[in-house]
This record gives sequence, structure tokens and C-alpha cells, in this order.
Amino acid sequence: MCGIVAYLGDKQAYPILIKGLKRLEYRGYDSAGVALIDGHEINLYKKKGKVIELESFTQGKNIKGTVGIGHTRWATHGIPNDENAHPHFSGSENLAIIHNGIIENYASLKAELLKRGHQFTSETDTEVLIHLIEDIQNNTHVDLVEAVRIALNKTLGAYAIVIVSKDNPDTMIAAKKSSPLVIGIGDNFEYFVASDATPIVEYTKNVVYLNDEEIAIMQRGKKLQLMDIKKHAITPYIQELEVHLEAIEKGGFEHFMLKEIFEQPQSIRNSMRGRIDLDKGIVSLGGIRDYEQKIINAQRIIIVACGTSWHAGLVGEYLFEDLARIPVEVEYASEFRYRNPIINESDVVIAISQSGETADTLAAIKLAKEKGATIIGICNVVGSTISRATDGGSYTHAGPEIGVASTKAFTAQVTVLSLMALSIAHKKGSISESKFRQLLVELYAIPEKVALLLESDEKIKYIASIFKGVSNFLYLGRGYNFPVALEGALKLKEISYIHAEGYPAAEMKHGPIALIDEEMPVVVIATRKGNYEKVISNIEEVKARNGKIIAIVTKGDVDVKKIADYVIEIPEVEDALSPLLTCIPLQLLSYHIAVMRGCNVDQPRNLAKSVTVE
Ligand code: G6P
Repeated sequence: MCGIVAYLGDKQAYPILIKGLKRLEYRGYDSAGVALIDGHEINLYKKKGKVIELESFTQGKNIKGTVGIGHTRWATHGIPNDENAHPHFSGSENLAIIHNGIIENYASLKAELLKRGHQFTSETDTEVLIHLIEDIQNNTHVDLVEAVRIALNKTLGAYAIVIVSKDNPDTMIAAKKSSPLVIGIGDNFEYFVASDATPIVEYTKNVVYLNDEEIAIMQRGKKLQLMDIKKHAITPYIQELEVHLEAIEKGGFEHFMLKEIFEQPQSIRNSMRGRIDLDKGIVSLGGIRDYEQKIINAQRIIIVACGTSWHAGLVGEYLFEDLARIPVEVEYASEFRYRNPIINESDVVIAISQSGETADTLAAIKLAKEKGATIIGICNVVGSTISRATDGGSYTHAGPEIGVASTKAFTAQVTVLSLMALSIAHKKGSISESKFRQLLVELYAIPEKVALLLESDEKIKYIASIFKGVSNFLYLGRGYNFPVALEGALKLKEISYIHAEGYPAAEMKHGPIALIDEEMPVVVIATRKGNYEKVISNIEEVKARNGKIIAIVTKGDVDVKKIADYVIEIPEVEDALSPLLTCIPLQLLSYHIAVMRGCNVDQPRNLAKSVTVE
């Protein structure tokens, strides 16, 4: 949700900022802007639209400067236009700021500043913050760092900010609360700042992740200084980055989404790496070892998540209840936190988040923690806020996911949930040794089956070409594949803008069946081991009303083939692990339909990958 990037060093900042903004564009693409210090001037360029619009706007302008800040926006306060684009100037234009987050009390701060004669050029909360900082400087004659510190003590809400100043042309000040911020330290104290490490990785591996309410002072050629907003000095903890450059580039694929779909044999394998010993029949998840007994004895597990991660959570519910016999509730984090939920110390909360930054999921964790529950995280981004806020957990190791529509993160989450449920079930004795071993061997074989399944890409593309023009889609599944139906529908609507609904197959007759006519494609997951006969009856109900059936079936299927219009085969698999396969054709179907409709699949309209506002 907004991407920020900044540079101070010996190099020209502009190309570094632009490249960094392109890497961060998944966080929002309503507008983009940069501000660079050239001598004692701050030159600001900003434009509504994507980074590419900013590039055309700056073409031919001789943009110079070795200190600069850049921003790509996902609009919260004020419509996407040039004025609301970041960076924002202070009243005197001595200071410029970029900001990710929301200053919740901006309206009252703005009212006070207006009374004191400040004039604003945008509708943003960010402009209020930079005016406030300047106002403090003017009225108290403190230095810039102190003015920033005082201002941050007056603000409520979330921020990751970087500020530059005409009067201190060799300094950058950054600070964060709730929104992520990482600082890269290059040779001779060259500094990079960004919302995530992707703009930094090709320049340095040495990074400092800022914690909440910390302020960083970066000065040319000088050591990084950190303090908290109460003015206590902090020693920077420098870590080595694990992200590699190849992981964040398209590698010959037309889109990140397609690359990420095709990476799944590898990403699922990485999620299992070192965690399964087939010979000994063991699953070991180091990050939850200390909490396993707690999970085994839990009165219930509450899974909290948003979006695709919530769908993975639903698969987790089936897995934990079916295999480990522990009651599970799956909650939208945003609902959970606001409905005064009953939580006690014997509850275990599993928070699932690809980015590890989703504001609602983080708030749900905080609430459950206050009430004494044990919190387990399943995150993809190492070192993310959620991964640090949990008691224990397991990373998914899917690698960076850049496409806004989540694909490989979903299968990695389901893989880790499968490992967790199997491990707990085994230790609890709720499944037999032979069943445990059988599922373990099957899980281990999933990456190969995914690779096989990806060979159906051309066929799926053909099916996409037939349905690319429709306005509605229905997705049906039962049991383990009901969450996959929801996920399939979400994938289609987010990237192709076709209205789609996922439903439990048997629920169709309680409403959606009214929508079915010869125009309506219905995707049905009809695998052999998952309530097969019942699903066939549901398919018959659709066919009786002339609906078009696209069925996901098990290889060698005979019965569904007789009635479906199109079938996509998946390899034979146990029902409990089938979501890891059935979701793949649905990802490809959405992808191809979106491409054929001319949609921007990696950056769908109005969406952002990391949602750090409520
Ligand atoms: C956004 C993204 C989704 C994602 C959801 C939850 O809406 O566009 O792809 O599933 O946030 O994000 P998280 O990072 O917590 O999994």
C-alpha cells in the first residue's frame, strides 16, 4: 500500500529511484513522483498514473542529484491526481516528504495548521504531516530531526516516511510505525531506503529493518544513527538480505503472475524443504516446536487472514479438523478484530499472510495476544511485521511474489498448513501411522504433479478463448475444494474484472441456480475422491438449465467427461491434498482470460498487494 524509495550517496539518484519504484509498483500505482536535491534546490516531479507516466513526463529534463526520494501511491486520502501525488512539499518548499500509511488525526492537525495560516495544495494527510514538522521547526527553532520527532509524537496512525531538506542537503530522515521500512547500507555509508528490500538488493545485502516508532538519520559518509520517538538512542542491527535479484525479475515470462504460476513446483518444494523425512516418517517444523503441545491441547484453533490467505485458512480448517480433530474457526481478520470475539488462553490463533504486513491481520494478532492466546504465524516475507509479532510460526518460502494476484503464495500456505496439520495429527495420534505416512509421501510428490498439470496450459488457454467475453462465472466445489472454488472466483474477478462467485456446490440450488442459462459458464471441481457422485448430481442440475460446464476432473475420469462441456484433468491425488492441484488450472484460466481481455494482470485496477491500511 504505497511504495517508498530513497537514496543518498555518490550515484545519481534518479535512475535508482525509478527502478526502485517499478519494483514497488505492486504496492499501488495511482500516481508516482520523485524529489531530488540539486545543490540547494529540491526539484519535484510527480504525475498521476504509473511510473511509466512519470518517466515520460521527465523525459528530456536533465534531472540531477545524489539525494532523492520517490513514491508510488495507492490512494487513501484524495483522488488519484497530480496534486495528491507524493512527494509533498512543506509550505516554504524547504522540506519534501514521501509517506506510506495513514495519519488518522490529520483532520484535527490540519484544522490547527489552517488557523495558523498554512495553505495546502493537496487533500492528503501526508501534506499535513510535513507542514506540521515545518511549523514545529519555525515555532520552536529545534533542528529538523527534533521537529520530526515532536511531530511524530503528535500523530496517530501508520507511517513510513522519508524526509529531505534544502537546508540539510546531505541528510535524509526516515521513520516508521506500522508500515514497513528497510534501510540498505552500501559502501562508504551510501544509503537506500524502501518499503521492501527489492529496490535495494542489487546494490547491497546489508540492511536494517526499522522497528515501530524508530527514527533513522542518514548523513552522507556517516554512520547510520537510530533513535526511538522518545529520544533513546538505538544500536542498528544490520542483517544480511536473503532475496536474490533473479527472484524479483520476470525471467522470460510475459508477466510476473505467469512466472509465479509456473514456479509452483519449485515453491511448493521449497515450502517442504528440510521439513519432511520420508524414511523416518517425520515432519519437523522448527518454528512451532515449542508450541506443538499447546496446539495439540488447544480447545480450538482460530485462523485469521484476509483475501487469498483467508482461502488458504479455509483449507487449513478442513485439514486440522479432518486430520488433527481440533475445532477450527476461520475469521476475516477485519471482522474478528471489531466484534469483541471470545478468546482465551487455551486458544491458538494461526495468522496467515503472504506479505506479513496486512494491517487487519496484524491488529487481529494484537487483540488475540492481549487476551492470552498463543499466536502462530504463516508468512512468506521473512522479517515482516506479522512474522515478528507472533510467538512462533513457519515461513512459506515461496520466494518474492510480485504479481498482485496471489498464486504461489497460496499453494505454499496450503503446503505449510498441510505439514502443520499432519505433524499435529501424528503427535496427537488422531490419524494412523499408515495414513500419516501415505499422506506424507503424497505431499512430497505434489511438486511433480503440479509440473505435469502445468502442461495443460495450452488447453486451458483454449478454454479461456471461448469464455473470454462473458460477464459472469460461477465456481463450485465441495469439501476441501469449496475454498478452491472461492479462490478461483477471486482470481478471475481481481484480474479480468468479470463478476465471479464461488459457492459450495450443493448450495447452488439455494440461490445461484437462478442465474444459470446458456450464457453462464460454471467451473466445477469434480475430483474422484471428493464427494464425486454428489458433485456429478450438481453438474447435472447445471446442465439441465443449459449452463456450460468446465470441470476439473481426475485423470482417467469417465463420468464427468460425458456431461461436461470442457474438462481439465489433474493427476490422481488424496482429497486432503487436492487443493494444491485443483487451484492451478483455475489460476491459469483467470490469467489467460485477463490477458485476452487486455487487462493488466500484474497490476489490476484499484488493488494493491500489501494492504497496510484498515
Ligand atoms: C491483498 C492482496 C491479496 C492478498 C490479501 C492479503 O488484497 O491483493 O492477494 O491475499 O491482500 O494479503 P496477505 O499479504 O496478508 O496475505
